[in-house]
Amino acid sequence: MYKQQLIDTANSLVADDKGLLAMDESTPTCHKRFEKLGIPQTQEYRFAYRSLIATTPGLSESISGAILYDETIRQQTSDGTPLVSVLMNCGIIPGIKVDAGAKALAGHPGEKVTEGLDGLRDRLAEYAQLGARFAKWRAVITIGPGLPTPGCYAANAHGLARYAALCQEAGLVPIVEPEVLMDGKHTLARCFEVTEEALQTVFQQLYQQRVLLEGMILKPNMIVPGLDCPNQESVEEVAAATIECFEHTVPAAVPGVAFLSGGQSSELASARLNAMNVKYKSQVPWALAFSFARAIQQPAMELWAGKAENTEAAQKALYHRAKCNREARRGEYDP
Ligand code: 13P
Repeated sequence: MYKQQLIDTANSLVADDKGLLAMDESTPTCHKRFEKLGIPQTQEYRFAYRSLIATTPGLSESISGAILYDETIRQQTSDGTPLVSVLMNCGIIPGIKVDAGAKALAGHPGEKVTEGLDGLRDRLAEYAQLGARFAKWRAVITIGPGLPTPGCYAANAHGLARYAALCQEAGLVPIVEPEVLMDGKHTLARCFEVTEEALQTVFQQLYQQRVLLEGMILKPNMIVPGLDCPNQESVEEVAAATIECFEHTVPAAVPGVAFLSGGQSSELASARLNAMNVKYKSQVPWALAFSFARAIQQPAMELWAGKAENTEAAQKALYHRAKCNREARRGEYDP
């Protein structure tokens, strides 16, 4: 029913070398980040911070869409303008995180499955009414001794596909995010193997649930060595491995791959995205874009530190990181 609208929205999200800004941290995750910087963990500060982001001058030069959290999509500025309208008025498409978080997967110690399918149809209808045009669901896959298990791949892929089908039924573009975590000592080769298996499983399930590939965006991890792996490959090696893995697994009908940053530094995330676009942009069928939270926000949050007088400096930092990533999409990022 919404076929053309889904295709148009998905294409808009990755058009013009722009990308997505994830600002959809759940309240506990937001508080964890605030706590590290001594920022009070209250609703007032969450609102101040999210307003700072949404009102950053020029943000839409580099950002096509922003992923919000349930609390934020309902908030209004002091003059009564919904934050969603603030974003839309400057040309940023509002999206919404709709999963209910990754919970322990029964019978699979050390592994998680993302919950949130119950009642999702009704929640999606409400979010569409509030102005959302796309949604996000994140599944996490942990690498460790004996992990991931087949049960973990299957349960998470099934959840992602059921979510994606419900989104498309409601006219929302699903951002499909199977994140293979960077934590651990594993090698880049192991990340490749696990991501390949995860993506194969996800696309099988998307096919089975009749998801329109042209009307979705994939949000994957890059192929990187574990954070504690002694061998850290170069930016070019990461770019080559990432493209090879996706060529094996991501159908050409998918309009865009919008990477998560996953805890990489802001500079490294931009440099790796840049290397992919420099060498492979013209050979791959999908846009190589970004959907970063930490790699765009972190420097800005540190500068803000919860103080109103730092707002302008923080907005400049946010604008700068967003711009760096647009440059990386063009293969023109200069760190
Ligand atoms: P990071 O870029 O910080 O990994 O966050 C992306 C995201 O939206 C996680 O779901």
